Amino acid sequence: MTSLSPRPARKAVIPVAGMGTRFLPATKAVPKELLPVVDRPALQYIVEEAARAGLPEVLMVTGRNKAAIEDFFDRHPELETALEKKGDDSRLASVHESTDVAQVHFVRQGEAKGLGHAVLQAAAFVGDEPFAVLLGDDLIDARDHLLEQMLAVQAEHGGSVIALLDVGRENIDKYGAVAVEPGASPAAGGDEVVRVTGLVEKPPVDEAPSSLAIIGRYVLSASVFDVLRETAPGRGGEIQLTDALATLVERGEPVHGVVFSGRRYDTGDRLDYLKAVVRLASERDDLGEPFREFLRNFVADLPDEGASSS
Ligand code: G1P
Repeated sequence: MTSLSPRPARKAVIPVAGMGTRFLPATKAVPKELLPVVDRPALQYIVEEAARAGLPEVLMVTGRNKAAIEDFFDRHPELETALEKKGDDSRLASVHESTDVAQVHFVRQGEAKGLGHAVLQAAAFVGDEPFAVLLGDDLIDARDHLLEQMLAVQAEHGGSVIALLDVGRENIDKYGAVAVEPGASPAAGGDEVVRVTGLVEKPPVDEAPSSLAIIGRYVLSASVFDVLRETAPGRGGEIQLTDALATLVERGEPVHGVVFSGRRYDTGDRLDYLKAVVRLASERDDLGEPFREFLRNFVADLPDEGASSS
């Protein structure tokens, strides 16, 4: 199978089978992807990002206890009729947003055997075109155009493209880490493009090839499916997407990285989730002004602990 494809990516895959243990007990009954960031589920931001980047065909790879996600992206005739009768147009529009934004399909993962295994469930949906993978925990600010840049890099170089972020050496053991060729060129959106020469999933800090971490956006060549079928369980006994990408690099297929310099929120982490809610709420047209006013007063009343953080 050739790595250089003239066809642009048109489809997006969103794995949503994770258990969400970091948000227990909330995630005992509610999928973590539906926890609200201000008033919309985190997952809706991700689907909107895919649609904005020109990927209106979305496949969600789900697991047990995720039926609420299917309901969220389905029509809700009783609710729509009730809002119509009340003449509540703005709420009706917000209900339609979730179903109109993209064509959402679902496939079940069956067994939780890792991210690589989840992505492999998308093989029939994707066919032989390049495709995007978006992980639900990473929220990219709508003003930053990371996925568009990655799609442009893929269209130019073929092969696969991953999003990278310098997380500092001390944090690299929580991520897939990469080695890159020296020298970077700018991407259309201003971030840097690097050629990836090696990847390792969650290495110990002192063995990491760099402080560049994979964050949850990928544009992959369909050849990754053949590799995933042969990829043995790796870190944590799971089939790792990072290991499959390492094999593609070993085989000489191009893998590039876009080193992101914009705003990213890890909504899978409780502190980062709170920061995302506060930042996004404070910038909203409808809520921002009174919320900023509240924040100013709230912060002014906080006891001084002498330290500041980002
Ligand atoms: C996954 C990937 C990892 C990547 C991370 C980004 O890990 O396996 O390579 O750095 O997503 O969020 P997870 O967070 O699912 O353990």
